[in-house]
Amino acid sequence: MKTAKTVMEVRSYVKTWKAEGKTIGLVPTMGFLHQGHGSLIKKAVEENDIVIVSDFVNPIQFGPGEDLESYPRDFEADKKLCERLGADLIFHPEPEEMYDKPCTAVDMTVLSDGLCGSKRPGHFRGVCTVVSKLFNITKADRAYFGQKDAQQLFIIKKMVADLNFDIEIVGCPIIREEDGLAMSSRNSYLSEEERKAALCLYKAVKRGMEIITKNMPAATLIEAMTAVIENEPMARIDYISVVDLEELKELKSIDKPALVAMAVYIGKTRLIDNFLYEL
Ligand code: PAJ
Repeated sequence: MKTAKTVMEVRSYVKTWKAEGKTIGLVPTMGFLHQGHGSLIKKAVEENDIVIVSDFVNPIQFGPGEDLESYPRDFEADKKLCERLGADLIFHPEPEEMYDKPCTAVDMTVLSDGLCGSKRPGHFRGVCTVVSKLFNITKADRAYFGQKDAQQLFIIKKMVADLNFDIEIVGCPIIREEDGLAMSSRNSYLSEEERKAALCLYKAVKRGMEIITKNMPAATLIEAMTAVIENEPMARIDYISVVDLEELKELKSIDKPALVAMAVYIGKTRLIDNFLYEL
């Protein structure tokens, strides 16, 4: 497996691969890889001749007071996992390599207005900008994103359609720990006690999946899920929302396919989870 720290290096590898007629799959990550990332890499390896994993803690998608400085990093372990899963190149740039006093950004309206977008202003602008850059740098044919970050997946698909990026976006299911907690690099922040408390997100998802029915009021569903979270003293709800799948707008009643998404603080750690309801 090759490692690249500069855009020029990636471009030169990509040029050779493209000349050989090879297809390229891209897995964008912020590193500290776990089996959730691993599932994306495995799928990319199955579906493409070449797989590029980007491993970059993207500073512009963190807001003031967020965890940019403390975000977990372990590049050596990431390299090992990528190599073992059959990736061909890991791209690990410094922030200065990606951002040289930029004047340009890619922004999104509507889909980024609610859910995490309203709680983390500027977050999806940072995501769309770095992902656009990665698409341009790697010239990938396909890119892999997890359903774990459901709003991000919707936003990237819409960005690709709106801006005519010549790339296929592949969504991949949420990978969970044995007890149900969705895998996340941020789980490493949790103390032993918090790790137990964090299970309330999955419990709320399960409760929601059990009781959701067509045409039920969204408020009833949210109330039931809220009760599950509030039963855990260490948890504080950031939001629990039920939105449609076209514009991610709040639904009053579950009368069309819906995304049920939430963010919950366990101590200082903000965790997310979600499920889709297809009717
Ligand atoms: P990061 O949080 O590292 O996640 C990288 C990719 O892995 C995302 O597509 C995310 O949805 C997926 N992923 C994370 N945990 C998962 C799980 N438990 N199951 C399935 N997939 C999972 O998301 C980002 O980085 C960044 O915003 C990025 C897109 C790289 C832009 O900087």
